[in-house]
Amino acid sequence: MVLNFAHRGSLTEAPENTIPAFQKAMEQGANAIELDVQLTKDKQLIVCHDHTFRRLNPDVKGKIQDFTLKEIKNIDVGSSFSGEYKGVTLPTLQEVLNICPEYILLNIEIKNIPVIYEGIEKILLDCLSENNRLENILISSFDHTALKKVQELNSDIPLGMLFYYRILEPWKYAQNSGLNITSIHPNQVYTDRLFIEYCKAYGFKVYPYTVNSVEHYEALLDYGVDGVFSNNPGVFAVG
Ligand code: G3P
Ligand code: CA
Repeated sequence: MVLNFAHRGSLTEAPENTIPAFQKAMEQGANAIELDVQLTKDKQLIVCHDHTFRRLNPDVKGKIQDFTLKEIKNIDVGSSFSGEYKGVTLPTLQEVLNICPEYILLNIEIKNIPVIYEGIEKILLDCLSENNRLENILISSFDHTALKKVQELNSDIPLGMLFYYRILEPWKYAQNSGLNITSIHPNQVYTDRLFIEYCKAYGFKVYPYTVNSVEHYEALLDYGVDGVFSNNPGVFAVG
């Protein structure tokens, strides 16, 4: 089955990384959801991509890590998308787990660069464990040190290795990392047939981000891709 990851939920249809965006993604038939996690000032897991509110609510100055969860829950991140979503706030990971059934593969990206959230790996695994949600989970990060910490805490969790740049032979890098990498998540701009063939020959699944045109998606399918991240999962048939 080809995975149709809703990137930050269905972010063309609702404010990214919010409950409405995740609900929309499931309505559209996404079989996987990607989200980003960070820590609040009081060490709560909050779902958000950016490290500031600049894009989500320009009136709010400061970084995510400067605010407590209670404060964040008073910040509207919906109005910048549309008036229809006025009052929508960033969800905690717990809130997402509450609405995301286990048949949906949940890809949790630890957003550890440029801010390093000391201890986020343990807080994340504790949260998943308390929710009995260690199945059908994929933890990814551009910060491969964070992946190592996850593995040290729980060696059973599948790990996705994110790459922004076109590094030399990432399949060898992943294999030599000693980590339980099950999938390579490359930038779509350099994900071509050969790249996919090498990753697969080394035993990795390949999930490029972010693929938004049907033509591009179909080309990647032809190359043998295992899944894609897209901003509007409704435009792709679930294979
Ligand atoms: O996990 C895939 C993709 O989300 C990585 O890039 O910047 O959208 O988090 P970014
Ligand atoms: Ca992400």
